[in-house]
Amino acid sequence: MTQAQVAQGQQPLLAVRDVSVVFGGIVALNGVTFDMKKGQILGLIGPNGAGKTTLFNCLSRLYQPSKGEILMEGESILTRQPQKIAEIGIGRTFQNVALFPRLTVRDNIRIGGHCRTKSDVVSDALKLPWVRTEERRLNEKVDEILSYLELHDVADREVAGLPFGTQKRVELGRALAAEPKILLLDEPAGGLNHEEVYVLGDLICRIRDQRHITVLLVEHHMGLVMKIADHVVALNFGKKLAEGTPSQVQSDPDVIKAYLGSKDQ
Ligand SMILES: Nc1ncnc2c1ncn2[C@@H]1O[C@H](COP(=O)(O)OP(=O)(O)O)[C@@H](O)[C@H]1O
Ligand SMILES: [Mg+2]
Repeated sequence: MTQAQVAQGQQPLLAVRDVSVVFGGIVALNGVTFDMKKGQILGLIGPNGAGKTTLFNCLSRLYQPSKGEILMEGESILTRQPQKIAEIGIGRTFQNVALFPRLTVRDNIRIGGHCRTKSDVVSDALKLPWVRTEERRLNEKVDEILSYLELHDVADREVAGLPFGTQKRVELGRALAAEPKILLLDEPAGGLNHEEVYVLGDLICRIRDQRHITVLLVEHHMGLVMKIADHVVALNFGKKLAEGTPSQVQSDPDVIKAYLGSKDQ
């Protein structure tokens, strides 16, 4: 192995470097730096208004940082067009489900897979042989995801009438269809009951272990983060307060004061 290959092996999958975001006069993020390693489940925690969603939106290119850099496998993502983010391997779900409510579960998931296809309106209309092959592959992929997420029974139902927990799984399916290297989840446990949170935690671990996807988990539900994250970054008032293993962060006095302590007040 060459020196360069060794260095490549050590390179973080995602590097957040001194990222700041200012909205008008409000400093939502203030010089945040951390690394995500391949195969990690990284938990991003912090009280309301800490800057979690702002950071999440920088990673998915919805917001442009005022300062700093975000590198994916050593290359800046900030020069990429926001609509190309799925192509470089970053997938996301939304804090509040964002699906096409009048489309079926199957079609919502299919849409996620389109960033991996090459066909356009013209080649589609001409039904060229390679377009048919591509379509068949996409259908197979959607079927595999429907089984993986146990959504087969509702595959042809409109999303609008489905329970919230099911809709969240559909959103996850849409993100998986894009075959991401990194999956960004913004408060996936929000609105779920105890049993559903347990099942979700198990599913996130399986997605990492079986599909080899690195996960950034923004979560208010401390129990879930502490149970499944390998590494935790805690934010408060837009700054990184602490980082380390779940138990290190959980016992950090600043974190207890800012976040865990607030539960007792
Ligand atoms: N689009 C925006 N415009 C103005 N201020 C914003 C915007 N988004 C977030 N903020 C502010 O930035 C800070 C961080 O918010 P946010 O990232 O949503 O925190 P969290 O997700 O940790 O609850 C808050 O003070 C919030 O009011
Ligand atoms: Mg948020």
